[in-house]
Amino acid sequence: MKTKSILFVLLAMSLSVTYSSCVHEIPITPDTGNGGNGGGSTPPPGSGSTCSKDSVYYVNDIQPILISSCAMSGCHDAATHAEGINVTTYAGVMKIVKAGNANDSKLFTEITRTDEDRMPPPPMAAMAADQVAKIKTWINQGAKNNSCNGCNVANYTFSAVIKPMMSNKCQGCHNPNSLGGGIDLSTYDGIKSAALSGTLYGSISWANGYSKMPQGGSKLSDCEIQQVKSWIDAGALNN
Ligand code: HEC
Repeated sequence: MKTKSILFVLLAMSLSVTYSSCVHEIPITPDTGNGGNGGGSTPPPGSGSTCSKDSVYYVNDIQPILISSCAMSGCHDAATHAEGINVTTYAGVMKIVKAGNANDSKLFTEITRTDEDRMPPPPMAAMAADQVAKIKTWINQGAKNNSCNGCNVANYTFSAVIKPMMSNKCQGCHNPNSLGGGIDLSTYDGIKSAALSGTLYGSISWANGYSKMPQGGSKLSDCEIQQVKSWIDAGALNN
């Protein structure tokens, strides 16, 4: 137990060193609306969803991935725009995308290279395979500035809604390699502990006294915020 906490302190110290090279706390304003569908969860038929399961949407899927994996302050956010790249706007993203051709798009080639110049750079984790796949499909489908509305407020299970929402919109800044605020949202235990402490709901509802999350991104839709609230109120179960 003791060794564990010493290790944790060491980890936190080394992270704050890496993180400080990436810090300029300047708020940025991305160009999205509020049409989130909870990170690609498929709503049941009849819920009025406008999302096609064969399509990948910029506003719902791609923009949140890029904000949480690339737009930490000091990296490719609006304020820093390292190497002239700002991924918080569609226009900024399109500077490194060739619509219809993922293999010829810097966005795709930089996240799939295997040397130390890979993006996001080590020690940050590489993008998850499903995120890489979404980016590839979105580019090959024409890299449109598209969105859909697929959020179903009545559905709020951990597996179908909460976990995909966290992976899509939060995990890039909240995982063991990049512990924003000391909070890990990559596991059920981490999400549950943020939920039960009140900070999860406080931060996404932009309540007084909490940092507004997702940092640098637009507020989650009312439907998504309600899904999180319902899940917490029902006991934050691993269901
Ligand atoms: C671009 C990076 C980034 C993204 C994306 C992001 N966070 Fe954060 N988050 C941070 C950083 C850095 C901190 C610590 C500094 C602070 O509190 O502002 C933080 C702090 C927090 C806190 C503690 C807030 C408090 O007031 O104590 C919570 C809870 C949180 N984030 C949840 C989330 C959730 C939920 C999402 C997704 C909806 C998310 N974050 C997306 C970077 C991010």
